[in-house]
Amino acid sequence: MEKTFSIIKPNAVSKNVVGKVISCFEEKGLRVAAIKMVHLSREKTEGFYIEHKDRPFFASLVQFMTSGPVFLMCLEGEGAVARNREIMGATDPAKADAGTVRKLFGEGIEANAVHGSDSSQSAERELAYFFEKSEIHSRF
Ligand code: CMP
Repeated sequence: MEKTFSIIKPNAVSKNVVGKVISCFEEKGLRVAAIKMVHLSREKTEGFYIEHKDRPFFASLVQFMTSGPVFLMCLEGEGAVARNREIMGATDPAKADAGTVRKLFGEGIEANAVHGSDSSQSAERELAYFFEKSEIHSRF
């Protein structure tokens, strides 16, 4: 059993598809072990995406991620990191497979509906960045 970190991004929240996105995870074997709705600050978002700080899209990404509330989640299940990435689809919705969250609800590479950890090390860092251990309700 594994845990991963997920964000439902501002475009999906504003489109009122939070329930549909969560259903995609639940129907494919992941469980929500923690969830909170927050409007991220610029500082918190910059710290989260620190590995991208030198990329040309960094400022725009931070601007987008702070444009409205998001849902922060811990998802858990067998092979949760890889499974979440399959469910999300490719970063660019235009390249994502049919039926993936990003194909269904993404509007562009930035407004791509969801973020998910890319490795178990990232998942650990990202979960610790947003959640206290006591806020994660693991069933395993
Ligand atoms: P996310 O999983 O949140 O991690 C970093 C984000 O940067 C990524 O999803 C995209 O939304 C965003 N991004 C914007 N432009 C690019 C790009 N050219 N390549 C990769 N990610 C990008």
